[in-house]
Amino acid sequence: MTLVINTPNTDFPVPTGIFAQVVTSVEHFTDQLFKFRISRPDSFRFRSGEFVMIGLPNAEKPVFRAYSIASPSWDEEIEFYSIKVEDGPLTEYLQKIKVGDTVLMRKKPTGTLVNDALLPGKRLWMFSTGTGIAPFASLIRDPDTYEKFDEVILTHTCRKVAELTYGQQLVAAVKDDPLCGEFAQGLRLYSTTTREDYPFQGRITDLMASGKVFTDLGVPPISAEIDRGMICGSMAMLHDTKAALIGFGLAEGSNNRPDTFVVERAFVD
Ligand code: A2P
Repeated sequence: MTLVINTPNTDFPVPTGIFAQVVTSVEHFTDQLFKFRISRPDSFRFRSGEFVMIGLPNAEKPVFRAYSIASPSWDEEIEFYSIKVEDGPLTEYLQKIKVGDTVLMRKKPTGTLVNDALLPGKRLWMFSTGTGIAPFASLIRDPDTYEKFDEVILTHTCRKVAELTYGQQLVAAVKDDPLCGEFAQGLRLYSTTTREDYPFQGRITDLMASGKVFTDLGVPPISAEIDRGMICGSMAMLHDTKAALIGFGLAEGSNNRPDTFVVERAFVD
């Protein structure tokens, strides 16, 4: 008989406003990157692309950090994609989690990388570096994204080739997925590296400035009539990518005031 563990394992009462959930799978990609999945509380609702605060029951006052939810809003589990930081207050412990362990999650998701914060358009660009791909892992698995946009281009730039694996596996799986596969035919992944040889190389900002990304993909340069953008990465990447989109005539939107692009930083440090 298989024993399904679904009870929180904490040494202190879980405060209201926090879910205690069970880890259902862990996969390590490199010595710095891993993904894990937790059970989903029945009452937990979120919009694909949002983030939530997570922590571990390893202290009376657990450290919480914002994590983008990498799974789509219809999924029965919640997925996260994380870096491992040696002395990171949370990731030092999080990187050691195993199936059956407990993860704490605050009940309120939020965020601006949501389809509702963009005006309708034809082509959606998702610009990511490193673990900034996480919210897009959610959005590319949501049929709503393909209802709103005919074409979806996910760009993912990392220092090294091995860091691209999560995104590549994900896009391949989306295209094969019985639920999303039929919608996701308009999805394309553009992966580049900056510190190792790879067929496509360079920062996405440089590739937009030179026009190479558009030539490589066979699409016209970004315009406010056709294109919409979402950006997730480090502070510097957000700043520079945002400036590039403004240069193409796009304007930043929010939940209250949808426009032609939206920005979210990749939070974990
Ligand atoms: P680079 O190797 O040239 O710094 P990080 O791990 O530092 O967040 O970087 C992840 C990826 O994002 C790297 O490929 C890095 O390129 C790229 N990157 C870093 N800063 C920027 C920026 N300001 N604009 C665009 N890409 C950036």
